[in-house]
Amino acid sequence: MKNTMIALATVGLISFGSAAQAGDATAGQAAYATCIGCHGAAGEGGVGPKLAGQAAADVAAKLHAYKKGEQVGPMTSMMAPMAAGLSDADIDNIAAYTASM
Ligand code: HEC
Repeated sequence: MKNTMIALATVGLISFGSAAQAGDATAGQAAYATCIGCHGAAGEGGVGPKLAGQAAADVAAKLHAYKKGEQVGPMTSMMAPMAAGLSDADIDNIAAYTASM
């Protein structure tokens, strides 16, 4: 019985954790202001690739990779400094916003 209670509490914590990670698109829109110059106001692309239409999980994964200093594409050196200053919450919020474009 005691173990069942612990297991249920753990499941509750895990589902709360993932709910908290779902990005806030409104906050993401504000954070995206610095990205417009290269990715376009509607995420249509320009200097940087098109972001509109990409899944939130893909955008977040790439931003985490840039932040970690991993090579993503041939122009990683241009993008990496942009991701370096983003918090994990910023990344989730921006990904939610670009996925809504
Ligand atoms: C100075 C121009 C510039 C700015 C500003 C900029 N980016 Fe980028 N971004 C690029 C370039 C160039 C690439 C392609 C880099 C590569 O080859 O890996 C890129 C790649 C990306 C990618 C991967 C896209 C893909 O399909 O592979 C994401 C996601 C991204 N940028 C998000 C952002 C966000 C979010 C911001 C604002 C915080 C931002 N960028 C600001 C130029 C920029």
